[in-house]
Amino acid sequence: MKRLRIGALASGGGTNLQAIIDRAADGSLAVDVVLVISNKADAGALERARQAGISALYIDHRPYSDRRDYDRAIVAALMEAGVDTVVLAGFMRIVTDVLIDAFPQRILNIHPALLPAFPGLHVQKKALDYGARFAGCTVHLVDGGVDTGPIVAQAVVPVLDNDDEASLSARILVQEHKLYPLALQLLAEGRLQVDGRRVRVSGAAPENVALINPPCPEST
Ligand code: GRF
Repeated sequence: MKRLRIGALASGGGTNLQAIIDRAADGSLAVDVVLVISNKADAGALERARQAGISALYIDHRPYSDRRDYDRAIVAALMEAGVDTVVLAGFMRIVTDVLIDAFPQRILNIHPALLPAFPGLHVQKKALDYGARFAGCTVHLVDGGVDTGPIVAQAVVPVLDNDDEASLSARILVQEHKLYPLALQLLAEGRLQVDGRRVRVSGAAPENVALINPPCPEST
């Protein structure tokens, strides 16, 4: 199996990036993270990359008046590093066709909601405010919209009566750290077939490998 050469784009703490780095290091995920790029100089993700011996690049978006010009700079760096798969891991920028066309169907994002419900920002709070009984996370291919690309994998997280934004977000994040490596492993194994909006997983186990559904905790 050809290992994926991953370039990760991140703006924040980088715990999803760390989960991928850890799974690659322990041999359970056939990827090499070769470059991490952030638009924030102080992003924890950059520090995590450095700690893991991965090239870490800060590209400030502010000097670029045009999003597409910024993406051109990112694409140049990704190409230079020989990246074949782009992972958005808490990247707080809307990407343009410049990036999408450079890596067709090779850009993944993780979103902390069960899409298509609650795209955008602050979505754990939106799920709570709406009164949803289930929240979760979604790994999807990136297209030109905001959190609209074909869904690869989802994990379901029950909303508990005493949840607040922090507690629900924390439980979703635990699932994110499992789901993103799972989706990347399926991609590395060549098991994802994209058919319009549907992403089929070949050679799937009898249970649906693209869904993690943790049991609701017992009441105490
Ligand atoms: C995650 O909740 C992810 O779903 C969202 O941004 C957050 C990033 O967290 N896109 P981290 O930087 O990976 O810790």
